[in-house]
Amino acid sequence: MKSDTPQRYGTLSRLFHWAIAVLVFWQALKIFDRIDDGEHWVGQTLVPWHISIGVLVLLLVVPRIAWALRNQGNRPPGPQPAWLGFLAKAGHVALYAALVLMPVTGISIMIGNGYGLAVFGMELVAGGGEIPWLATFGGTLHSPVAWLLLAMIAGHVVMALWHHFVRRDGVLRRML
Ligand code: HEM
Ligand code: HEM
Repeated sequence: MKSDTPQRYGTLSRLFHWAIAVLVFWQALKIFDRIDDGEHWVGQTLVPWHISIGVLVLLLVVPRIAWALRNQGNRPPGPQPAWLGFLAKAGHVALYAALVLMPVTGISIMIGNGYGLAVFGMELVAGGGEIPWLATFGGTLHSPVAWLLLAMIAGHVVMALWHHFVRRDGVLRRML
């Protein structure tokens, strides 16, 4: 498995990036529940996987962050001048933070409300008593952070396309 180099993200980093991107896109379909209470094709086929896929994102994002930290120093550099590099890095750190916060708050909703947690048919936590503070924590943050994450992803994609088509500096290619 190739590590990152200053020219290009390695195999594992690219696998993590694109697998998580697809899964988060899938998760975002949860907003379709707002249309006809989810009584439509998307709501009945893709959205019911929300909890399982969300927990899978957590299982992928933790090793992804560990791998990013381990590869620090030998991965592609940020843009110049330094303040722009700082901004890009801060944006990526915020994306990582949201990717952790989403499943953590989702799991808090389920356990806090006493629903338990079942992932791909396996019961990890049985339903039971309510934990009101956990339910409030998850219930207050999950939806706002989801919208924030979607806005950040939109900005992220615009920046990636701007690098590719306007600056033509190979930034997109090093993640492909
Ligand atoms: C990367 C992970 C996740 C993303 C991106 C995500 C995204 C979303 C989005 C976009 C919504 C709709 C919000 C709205 O309509 O305003 C939502 C709702 C919900 N999600 Fe997640 N989710 C994730 C993980 C999870 C996990 C792991 C669970 C449970 C274990 C979960 C449980 C829920 C529940 C119960 C709702 C409906 C409650 C509400 O609307 O506040 N989510 N999620
Ligand atoms: C759910 C969607 C996405 C998420 C959560 C996401 C998240 C991230 C994160 C956290 C990084 C930083 C990697 C690091 O340095 O550790 C990154 C890098 C990158 N992403 Fe995404 N990404 C998403 C979708 C996309 C899409 C659709 C594109 C292309 C159109 C894209 C293009 C890139 C590129 C080119 C980089 C490397 C930037 C650089 O080297 O400075 N991403 N992404």
